Amino acid sequence: MSNELKSFLEGLDSLAHDCESRKGQACSLNELDELRIEFLGRKGKLAQSMGALGKLDNTDKPAAGKKANEIKQSITALIDSWQAELNAAESGKAMSQFDPTMPGRKPWAGSLHPVTLVMDEVCDVLTGLGFEHAAGPEVENDWHNFEALNIPPEHPARDMQDTLYVSEKIVLRTHTSGMQIRSMLKQEPPLAVIAPGKVYRRDSDLTHTPMFHQIEGLLVDKNVSMGDLRGTLTVFVRQVFGPKTEVRFRPSFFPFTEPSAEVDISCVMCGGKGTSDGKTCRICKGTGWVEILGCGMVDPNVFKSVGYDPEVYTGFAFGLGIERIAMLKYGIGDLRMFFENDVRFLEQFA
Ligand code: PHE
Repeated sequence: MSNELKSFLEGLDSLAHDCESRKGQACSLNELDELRIEFLGRKGKLAQSMGALGKLDNTDKPAAGKKANEIKQSITALIDSWQAELNAAESGKAMSQFDPTMPGRKPWAGSLHPVTLVMDEVCDVLTGLGFEHAAGPEVENDWHNFEALNIPPEHPARDMQDTLYVSEKIVLRTHTSGMQIRSMLKQEPPLAVIAPGKVYRRDSDLTHTPMFHQIEGLLVDKNVSMGDLRGTLTVFVRQVFGPKTEVRFRPSFFPFTEPSAEVDISCVMCGGKGTSDGKTCRICKGTGWVEILGCGMVDPNVFKSVGYDPEVYTGFAFGLGIERIAMLKYGIGDLRMFFENDVRFLEQFA
């Protein structure tokens, strides 16, 4: 064997030993990759040793080539085996960090919409006071929605700007007050009903949506007085907003009640002070009061349109907007939140 061949073969052997001795240095898959490139890469140590092959005698080349292949294979096998070890170690580590006894993530089961929550609560309080639940159509005729409620044809409330018309005499109900008429036509006094539901108006801005929810209340009997109305609504408000809530009745006008009033409650945000955190309260704008509903004593003309004798019976009615109550109760500043159905908003009511 020529000396050149001998030193070529020895060079290959020492390359293999060199690689074997490096085992401890490749602690990660990345480091191992670097080691693989250092020995087997295109410009790596093996490739460099192979450079000397061309200078060998032709008779020595077969033996040199064979050895070079063997060394390449053994280095490859070595690095592959280390890689397998590292892979096993890493997945073992991952498994040891994984706690199979840990409870799984609970899927979000959904929650009631805040409008539904408030609607349910308001209904509960009122049924607790003895009111019975009534339901009627959202597509209503002109007579129930307007005419029978003492709203004559030229009344501004019937203006095309407020009312969504299905046809000349059919509308999407603009309020739940038509349910007063339907309830009175169905039964003789005494009666105490509530009618919750959707109402529609041609209105859309920051504080108005074309559809929203109302609840109507109506009580008719002999000798019903304004005092009964005040007492009932005061109890109602304190159950919904808390026992310390102040209630104020402000004169107002509705065609179907006489006298009419709007009810304000002490501001839910500032408690009636008009300021919160030293600043003008953003909910009541500094007045200390927020409006929550409209009400009044049933107008005799309404009784006449359903055939009740206004000389015998009196009654009160009230109507309130559910979204408005929900905004006050939960401190929601933007009406649109209720209709965007953003899960991040809705899941807060779970
Ligand atoms: N229907 C009135 C409205 O939509 C509210 C109301 C109901 C007022 C009953 C008085 C009596 O604004």
